[in-house]
Amino acid sequence: MWTRNLYLLGYMGSGKSHLGQRLAQHFERPFIDLDARIELEQGETIATIFERYGEAHFRALEATALRATATAPTSVVALGGGAPIYHNNMTWLLAQGTTVFLDPPLEILLDRLLGATSDRPLLAGMSRAALRKRVTAMLAQRRPIYERAHYHIHEGRAQEQAILAALKGLE
Ligand code: S3P
Repeated sequence: MWTRNLYLLGYMGSGKSHLGQRLAQHFERPFIDLDARIELEQGETIATIFERYGEAHFRALEATALRATATAPTSVVALGGGAPIYHNNMTWLLAQGTTVFLDPPLEILLDRLLGATSDRPLLAGMSRAALRKRVTAMLAQRRPIYERAHYHIHEGRAQEQAILAALKGLE
């Protein structure tokens, strides 16, 4: 039985929310989607928070919401893609929980993100070509932080099996 939260991190479209729900079911733990929790607490969508108050305000809310997960019963937590990057959050995550970096191939990210950008203000309305440029550039910046995670899952389509195999020692 694990005593620390399991945090899923990775770029937008890497499967954190989908996989987080599946893993929570599998391990019979509560599931927390950090973005959904922020939206619920603020009564506004992430897109509206970005638009009205700016990204820096969102990052402050995100850091606070992240730290509040430490008091929940042991849970599976899906983070927003930028959560590990700001406010020294990655160092906090490594100390507080077990962290898993979901890192599917770029083409899978693009397939998932294309047409799913309306609620993602950093990618809003982009074509596949524009997305490819933006995702490649952002990932290059973020990767060194994501790679500090305890586990690194490269699979795109068999993530659940890969993660369960990687986490065997934790059960
Ligand atoms: C962001 C990712 C989003 C959301 C916000 C910013 C990012 O979450 O937190 O739009 O900076 O990568 P998802 O990764 O769940 O799309």
